[in-house]
Amino acid sequence: MTDKSRNDSNRLTDLKTKQLRVAPSLLAADFCHLKEQVAIVERAGAEVLHLDVMDGHFVPNISFGPGLIAHLRPESKMFFDTHLMIDEPTRYAEAFAKAGSDLITFHIEVTKNPIEVIDEIRKHNCCVGVSINPTTGIDTIEAILPKVDLVLVMSVWPGFGGQSFIADVLTKVRQLRERLRDDQRLEIDGGIDPETIIQAAAAGADTFVAGTSVFGDPAPADAFERLTRTAQTAISTAK
Ligand code: DX5
Ligand code: ZN
Repeated sequence: MTDKSRNDSNRLTDLKTKQLRVAPSLLAADFCHLKEQVAIVERAGAEVLHLDVMDGHFVPNISFGPGLIAHLRPESKMFFDTHLMIDEPTRYAEAFAKAGSDLITFHIEVTKNPIEVIDEIRKHNCCVGVSINPTTGIDTIEAILPKVDLVLVMSVWPGFGGQSFIADVLTKVRQLRERLRDDQRLEIDGGIDPETIIQAAAAGADTFVAGTSVFGDPAPADAFERLTRTAQTAISTAK
């Protein structure tokens, strides 16, 4: 994988424009048929693919690494949104960038020096996201907000798909919405389904990670379209 493949104009989006996007999470896909599963959601209109990386340290689970992402890269034009649930994002940023990530999100809980992490990710030509766990306050990221492309609010404890949505985090979503620019994305991750996506959209999230409710559905394309439509309706009703 060459540097040229990153931030490629070939991608379906650069995530800069403000619109509602459902980002299917690969974690819930059928790992025996990843290429086909990715193609299904891309054909259904998904612009962003969420890639959950877990190290068995920051979270009590292990998922996949840069090797798998590199294999998927030539198969898709979707924007690769890599969510690093790992203790050492600075150490691994280059590998995930080279694998073809378009954005790398790190957790604020793992570092005392977020600027160093941001600089390392940018050095490898990727967009930068910062994530906060359900009980982490937005004060922890206030100072770096102008420097990131995306804020990811966890609406479950990171580590596993299929958990229930924690509605308390919507307060943080509302507060962050007020603080972010139009070219910065506000993403929510965990327990997103046709009901919770309405609450999340009304609170101001614009990017919705959905694992189980897309790939766990017998018809992932229909599930993706339904979620997208539901979020759009929630916004137009709220206006
Ligand atoms: C949880 C991950 C999520 C997960 C979401 O640690 O960060 O992205 O895949 O899965 P669902 O949509 O099933 O809650
Ligand atoms: Zn995630």
